[in-house]
Amino acid sequence: MTLKRMIANINNGFYIVMLCGLISLLASSIVFGQEDDLLLNNTDAYPIVQRASVYFPHDLHTDSFDCLYCHHDYLDGQNNLDTDELYEGNSAIRCRACHDKGLKNELKRAYHKQCLGCHRESRIKGVPSGPELCGECHIKKNQSIPH
Ligand code: HEC
Ligand code: HEC
Ligand code: HEC
Ligand code: HEC
Repeated sequence: MTLKRMIANINNGFYIVMLCGLISLLASSIVFGQEDDLLLNNTDAYPIVQRASVYFPHDLHTDSFDCLYCHHDYLDGQNNLDTDELYEGNSAIRCRACHDKGLKNELKRAYHKQCLGCHRESRIKGVPSGPELCGECHIKKNQSIPH
């Protein structure tokens, strides 16, 4: 076997391992249907990006709150979202799919209202709560998500 051929074979093996990893990754996300930690960085949705991306520990929140508390699709004031829609990669459930300039709450306002609204409410009630200071949510650019 020539050296070139051997390298080609090693490469093929490498891609197969990669592919298996990718398939199991996809399978596990379909089973759980949600993310652990998210980095919210819709940088292309704002005319000027003023703040660093936002770290959002999704699982920490699903421990205490119902999916439909945050995810919605309103019709006549009713949340009609089918929970089957809540799978990874479904762009229709992303906040930006609806919260554009046309709605009362444009994207930044929608996020702030939901995140900060709940953290503030929880603090006032005296139950466990989340951050309310800018720098606690808008973490440094390019910082990797802590696990
Ligand atoms: C509880 C978390 C949280 C806190 C606290 C918070 N933000 Fe945000 N902010 C968000 C989220 C989530 C977004 C949406 C990010 C995206 O769409 O990429 C956002 C978006 C923004 C944006 C638009 C995107 C950009 O970077 O230009 C600005 C400006 C902003 N926030 C400023 C602030 C300021 C100023 C404060 C403090 C007074 C603050 N935020 C506090 C969560 C937070
Ligand atoms: C405290 C609020 C909150 C709760 C509770 C919540 N989510 Fe989320 N979820 C979010 C936000 C915010 C995002 C990011 C949306 C975006 O990218 O604009 C998100 C993203 C997701 C995504 C990823 C979409 C993508 O980008 O591929 C899935 C899947 C998801 N949630 C499923 C669920 C399921 C299932 C539950 C209930 C077990 C749940 N969520 C509960 C706020 C919440
Ligand atoms: C399928 C479309 C759709 C998606 C996806 C969506 N929203 Fe909404 N949302 C609406 C509509 C419609 C309203 C009512 C009009 C308004 O207030 O802008 C609304 C209202 C809101 C309100 C105001 C509710 C109140 O109590 O005043 C907040 C806050 C909000 N959305 C945040 C979010 C966040 C955060 C996400 C992503 C996790 C999200 N929305 C995803 C359509 C959507
Ligand atoms: C329905 C209520 C609710 C909403 C909506 C919500 N949070 Fe929280 N958040 C909490 C509570 C309660 C805690 C404290 C959880 C704990 O300590 O067990 C928390 C904690 C956090 C923490 C701290 C995690 C840590 O490790 O200390 C961050 C960061 C955070 N939230 C970001 C966000 C962002 C960003 C959003 C919007 C995309 C958001 N939260 C929306 C209730 C909420």
